[in-house]
Amino acid sequence: MKKYRLGVVGQGSRGRGMFRWFSENFEDIVPTAACDIVPKFWYETKENDMTMAERMPQVTFYEDFDEMMAKADLDILMVETPATNHADFCEKGLKAGVHVYSDIPTVRSLEEAQRLWKAQQASDAMFMSGSTTCGWGFILELQNLYKKGLLGEPVAMEAEYIHDCRSLWEATPWRKPHVKWGSMPIRYCTHSLGPLLSILKEDLRKVYCVTTGSKVTDNEFANDYNSAFFQTDSGVVVRMTASFINNCAGCNHSYRIYGTKGYFERIPDKGEGRPPKTIFSSTVSDEMKKLTELPIDFSPYTSEFGKRFESKAANSGHGGADVFLMQWFMEALRSGAKEAPITLRDGLRMTIPGIYAAESVIQGGKTLTIRYPWDDDFEEDAKTYTKTYTN
Ligand SMILES: NC(=O)c1ccc[n+]([C@@H]2O[C@H](COP(=O)([O-])OP(=O)(O)OC[C@H]3O[C@@H](n4cnc5c(N)ncnc54)[C@H](O)[C@@H]3O)[C@@H](O)[C@H]2O)c1
Repeated sequence: MKKYRLGVVGQGSRGRGMFRWFSENFEDIVPTAACDIVPKFWYETKENDMTMAERMPQVTFYEDFDEMMAKADLDILMVETPATNHADFCEKGLKAGVHVYSDIPTVRSLEEAQRLWKAQQASDAMFMSGSTTCGWGFILELQNLYKKGLLGEPVAMEAEYIHDCRSLWEATPWRKPHVKWGSMPIRYCTHSLGPLLSILKEDLRKVYCVTTGSKVTDNEFANDYNSAFFQTDSGVVVRMTASFINNCAGCNHSYRIYGTKGYFERIPDKGEGRPPKTIFSSTVSDEMKKLTELPIDFSPYTSEFGKRFESKAANSGHGGADVFLMQWFMEALRSGAKEAPITLRDGLRMTIPGIYAAESVIQGGKTLTIRYPWDDDFEEDAKTYTKTYTN
């Protein structure tokens, strides 16, 4: 059996969990190296009474990423650094011919997108966008209904990501608004757009986005709530709202899809006595002509597609979605597939619209054309807009 030497950069709470789950769920993974600029996350921080150093004595810890890449002889690099800081590590991984499993958003700026895209084009290594929400059971079921033709083609789609993240500011300081325009929640759009775009053939082409500015706290740099309208060339409308400073309890992800032949909705958990629901209706299904609640939830293993990985089911990590995506990625790698199940292109399709949406806010709500590294005229935008996003 071929073995894969795994390394990780970023040992915050998510990096520690992801590295452990990856290492514990696959016989062909050899946990080899871990890197963080803060060594205490490896040597001192305890989960279930054990530090990572105690739990994984076979792993070499590095404080310097380049040193890890030079010495560890990795096959797979996992990137779990702050959301503002993924692309440079991913680019170095691809250039070294190492397969990359990266958290999202994929990039922070258009300039990063261009560099990473070029690195992927020149590399034989696989790039997996670890887009957690694309592993949720009800999203896999949405894809299944779409493939079966029960939804038709999307006409309009909506998604909301409402999560008051103020309690995370101390532990993850990158989440706290600290620079003008640096705190636009719409940039963190991948959890919402990833599932929607997985059933949309076209890229999003236009955007208009507005902000409330800062009203809930006295943080002068905050944008409490962003709402964006996107549109494709053929006129499909996507409306997305993101808010990370609010007084709404819970972590609310909702999705609505208006199709030519059906309607799909995911209603999030609204507290005690109001559990989450996934409802669907289709004009071409006798059983589901009326709105019908689907027996499906977060866990990928409650969906038809997810069931094939059931024996490896793990509930940790967003209802099991993270381990499911790792299984999917490993399956592709072992089979010698050229592309990951969720590619770099997929990651950029769900990340770049948020960068343009933030730019639309900065330009006072101007409608902008969205371009991607695979478009001829992307380079000009990468030069024009990059400075605005580096804060
Ligand atoms: N997919 C999901 O559902 C989901 C959920 C939560 C977080 N995330 C993502 O996971 C990532 C990590 O989030 P987190 O909550 O663990 O954040 P965190 O701040 O706890 O962890 C980030 C770690 O990266 C380290 N780091 C920063 N710069 C570094 C560098 N140059 N070299 C090495 N290490 C460096 C930090 O010291 C820190 O330990 C973020 O990208 C976040 O968006 C994804």
